[in-house]
Amino acid sequence: MKLLIINIGEIAGIVPEGVLRKQGPEMSETGVLKDAWLRVEDGLIKDFGPMADCPEAAGEVLDAEGGMVMPAFCDSHTHVVYAGSREGEFLDKINGLSYEEIAARGGGILNSADLLHRTSEDELFEESMVRVREMMAAGSGAIEIKSGYGLNPEDELKMLRVIRRIRESVPAVIRSTFLGAHAVGRKYTHESYVDEVVRMMPQAAELADFVDVFCDKGFFTPEDAIRIMKAGAACGLPAKIHANELAESGGVEAGVRCGALSVDHLERSGPVQVEALRGAVTMPTMLPGSSFFLGIPFAPAKSFIEAGLGIALASDYNPGSSPSGDMRFIMALGCIRMRLTPVQAFNAVTLNSAYAMGVAHLVGSVTPGKIANLIVTAPGWNLTKIPYLHHTPFIRHIFLRSSLFRG
Ligand code: NIG
Ligand code: FE
Repeated sequence: MKLLIINIGEIAGIVPEGVLRKQGPEMSETGVLKDAWLRVEDGLIKDFGPMADCPEAAGEVLDAEGGMVMPAFCDSHTHVVYAGSREGEFLDKINGLSYEEIAARGGGILNSADLLHRTSEDELFEESMVRVREMMAAGSGAIEIKSGYGLNPEDELKMLRVIRRIRESVPAVIRSTFLGAHAVGRKYTHESYVDEVVRMMPQAAELADFVDVFCDKGFFTPEDAIRIMKAGAACGLPAKIHANELAESGGVEAGVRCGALSVDHLERSGPVQVEALRGAVTMPTMLPGSSFFLGIPFAPAKSFIEAGLGIALASDYNPGSSPSGDMRFIMALGCIRMRLTPVQAFNAVTLNSAYAMGVAHLVGSVTPGKIANLIVTAPGWNLTKIPYLHHTPFIRHIFLRSSLFRG
């Protein structure tokens, strides 16, 4: 299939081939071409250039009428496969209970695990697909999805099978993460559950791309995390880690030591974590949706960038701490609450988030040869307006693998 998009007001997010992440001052740069055309062939970005040299159309033509073209968002951290709803906990939270207090009363992750256990695999797929469609309609073209509401072998594998089915059903790029160590499953002691997670690894590795551990106060220790990451590595799974959401957990250091692709959350972080991350392959990933929803500090994004690091932003879409997968809202929180510039936030929700889920060679920028996951905005939009007018509809078309996606 051939597509030529003409009269593009500006293409944003142009990145040379081979650049897979942005760090430090590079976070403030993005390639822009004004008054442009762009060609798509066989689902891939073929080339682009100024309207003055527009090629002859060889297939379909779309007139962007001055709208902007940008890469679709990449969301490298979500928990969108879950059952039911936890709105009761939302009320508890409004009435003053903290995330930890809700979890200690048997709510939180264990509540989702109970709901998931009672839900059939087909129902779980259907419920989760509603959210995935909503995310694609909001502009996400690559989504990482974690297990972690099973907390026993049978239910964890059920989740991983549902993620695989989603991957086979949608045009977005999907990656799957085994988060067996999200909380200690009912019927287990802490130690016996860590043993169980290690035992599950070979089967999980047949379905998942990554392994993750909730390394935080009251959940899993850095020692648990290292053991689980090593078991993952032995089965070919690179790591991603939840760290420093509730306390300085040592999870960042553990993640870097094990070559984790990303360390995520980082609300309680400072110079110690920056030093640990310097020179590492690991992408610091911040989740402002959960800071907003839980009323906890926002991760210190600015100081990470000033220290020369890159950062990614992701939604953390889940029923307990961030019930939204709207990456444009995440970009707005990045600007409004973390003081990122729109270009920094844009790089964080596109290329760097693609890197954090191991797909930056496929998506996350306008680069010839990458998958044509593209947003075409309405006329008059630019990168600053997207987070500024943060709830005004801005998407006119979304192409996922070059076919028009309709939510
Ligand atoms: O990333 N922090 C751990 N996991 C999720 C919350 C999961 C839940 O509450 O259901 C998070 O915030
Ligand atoms: Fe999470």
